[in-house]
Amino acid sequence: MTVFKSASSNPSSQNNIEERLQIQRLLEPSLVISTNAGNDVIKGLTQRPKTLPPRYFYDDRGSELFEQICELPEYYLTRTETKILQICASEIAEITGACEIVELGSGSSTKTRILLDAYYKQGLPLHYLPIDVSAGMLESSALSLLADYPSLQVYALAGTYELALSEIEPKELPNRMICFIGSTLGNLNPREYDVFLSQVKAALQVGEYFLLGVDLQKPKHILEAAYNDNQGVTAAFNLNMLEHLNWRFQGNFDTRQFEHWAFYNELEHQIEMHLKSKRSQTVELRTLKFNIDFEAGETIHTEISRKFDLNRIQQELKAKGLVPQKVWTDENQLFGLLLCQLQD
Ligand code: TRP
Repeated sequence: MTVFKSASSNPSSQNNIEERLQIQRLLEPSLVISTNAGNDVIKGLTQRPKTLPPRYFYDDRGSELFEQICELPEYYLTRTETKILQICASEIAEITGACEIVELGSGSSTKTRILLDAYYKQGLPLHYLPIDVSAGMLESSALSLLADYPSLQVYALAGTYELALSEIEPKELPNRMICFIGSTLGNLNPREYDVFLSQVKAALQVGEYFLLGVDLQKPKHILEAAYNDNQGVTAAFNLNMLEHLNWRFQGNFDTRQFEHWAFYNELEHQIEMHLKSKRSQTVELRTLKFNIDFEAGETIHTEISRKFDLNRIQQELKAKGLVPQKVWTDENQLFGLLLCQLQD
């Protein structure tokens, strides 16, 4: 594990930013993705139906497209969660008191600012522990937060949630809250969901908090529009996974020969995202010495996005000992935010 402090040429003018920032790399970023490089791709593409791991969405272009998805008129999730946070952030700060905010998959930390503002306004000391696989993203968003919040301390962890949650140091402030917003929980399958909640539970002490944002079940047409936007940004995001594989493994996927296919599976309550081969074709991933055949119309499954029932998820969390203390939703009940507390 390497620990480094951000370098600064002129500390005083930067309000001692370097003293308030620590970044730990739990794994070299290259290792995060290249341990047994490509084995997961070969495994997924030789399955029937074919699948690819969602982590290959996120190269630089993928992250940029994802930011664009969050702004789309059809993609109500980010906008709605932001609105809910604006309404309930001060209440959350009152409930938890002085608190370390641990955020899983912090990305650009845009929504987190709403929470930080609330703690700041109440004069509560602030520690922020963002966890993300991208060390670059962690550093740039931490620097911008430190410049805006003069008393903030940031302890960033670069690594997977699993690793970071198991490595997290004991808290220094009276309380701690793990935040998992953006309905990323919905991108885990039921088995991963169970394992994840156990990891969250193991990382918390009795009395500490878990803040969870989840997208709710709703009519199919609203959901399908959100994942099939008019401008084709979600399609570009999905197809970019093939470009990413081309770059990473010297592949020759021709993205014009595949199409984005997303639909709501009402039985499973989940959006399913696939890439569909427009014709029969063979693709090569040269550095993996791997050729793969596609039939016309054959699909690769790339992502699920589960949609939750607010009552049911409260029961499930409670059964895990993560007892919902407060639950917020918007006027149209599109999205839910749950503040849970670990109890014996
Ligand atoms: N968790 C969000 C969602 O399910 C964001 C997200 C993850 C997403 N993977 C995606 C959005 C793929 C669109 C496509 O909506």
